[in-house]
Amino acid sequence: MKVLIVGAGAREHALTWKALQSPLTDAVYCAPGNAATGAIAVNTGIEATDIDGIVRFVSERDVSLTVIGPEAAVAAGLADRLAASDRLVFGPTAAAGRIESSKAFAKSLMARAGVATPAYQVFDDPARAKDFVRGERRAFVVKADGLAKGKGTLVPRDAQDTLECIDTLMLRKTVGAAADRIVLEEKVEGREVSLMAMVDGDRVVALPPACDYKRALDGDRGPNTGGMGGYSPVSFFGPDEIDRAVAEVLVPVVKTLREDGTPYRGCLYAGLMVGGSGVQVLEFNARFGDPEAQVVLPRLEGDLVPLLEATARGALGETRASWSTRSSVGVVLASRGYPGTYQTGFPIDGLGTIERDVFAFHAGTTAGPAGYETAGGRVLTLVALGGSMGEARDRAYRNVEKIRFEGMTYRHDLALREVESAVLQ
Ligand code: GLY
Repeated sequence: MKVLIVGAGAREHALTWKALQSPLTDAVYCAPGNAATGAIAVNTGIEATDIDGIVRFVSERDVSLTVIGPEAAVAAGLADRLAASDRLVFGPTAAAGRIESSKAFAKSLMARAGVATPAYQVFDDPARAKDFVRGERRAFVVKADGLAKGKGTLVPRDAQDTLECIDTLMLRKTVGAAADRIVLEEKVEGREVSLMAMVDGDRVVALPPACDYKRALDGDRGPNTGGMGGYSPVSFFGPDEIDRAVAEVLVPVVKTLREDGTPYRGCLYAGLMVGGSGVQVLEFNARFGDPEAQVVLPRLEGDLVPLLEATARGALGETRASWSTRSSVGVVLASRGYPGTYQTGFPIDGLGTIERDVFAFHAGTTAGPAGYETAGGRVLTLVALGGSMGEARDRAYRNVEKIRFEGMTYRHDLALREVESAVLQ
């Protein structure tokens, strides 16, 4: 079969790499793809939000299955258009995808589904939002309602800072119209975990949980980023916790979406906070996480494509995927200055020297005359597998040291808490 992977990041590189291992695929295309997917599959160059272009390509090449990576393509209605042309697509419709593209929608959906989530208020008017905060005299998480490429959630320290954050999003419009409406959310403490699942409109098959690191600097300091790395599995979120989250979060939400006439098909990502008052949902994403996909997909034993196809067909049935007991750690190598301004065009050395069971999933690279060069803020995710989290972590950082480019930065503390807590046990 012919498979089209939509997107251009390290997540899509990981999906492409895994899809190519399937004996079922005789061609894998990417839209648009990146420098590294171009070396293993066929880049179409069609942008992920060029819906007409993708629909045309799928029809002309008779693509059997389209897999949507980024949220922008979901929100632009790619799944709707492909389904209208009787094409199989992994990824939700724009209506079901509102679970990510509107934070206010996700909150009201959770209220209707009886899913635990921090208390919240929705505001269209910055003055009213600020009056509310002044009355409460404490900090709230400030979230842009719409899609904001990871820049729409601000976590202030106190009430004054919350007022600043409201101005930043609603008056200074740092994320544009995405913050014409905001959600003010109660701050909750705990440990964050990402739980992704295949959802076929009805059935839910959980993938192993992962943790990601959103802050730029060690010790969770510095600005929020699109993700600086992650690891899987998660010691504080084992099989019992997964089963409970499936039963209490994913199944009720999927059922409510189905009852609303907007069934969800694709990967559903729940960002969970595990704290003293149990598990609460901080956010949903209507897609695979990035960098969660990069650390979870290498742990899949066997074929990804039947899993994607069964999800897209609404036929997960009793499908169960088999996952390696090995651990994975992913380190994002970034350009100095990211997530602010940074320079690009620097040669990347050492990629040919990384060890077996270590994968370099590219995001911001380009193919230069003498090899890959940097072309973005997050350049690549280096993922290592190991028999324990300690081994995966050691292998990841040992191989990070083999790679060099001008201004290369990364976090040094990824998965450290897992390794340290294992030592204490
Ligand atoms: N890792 C968070 C996200 O994919 O949005």
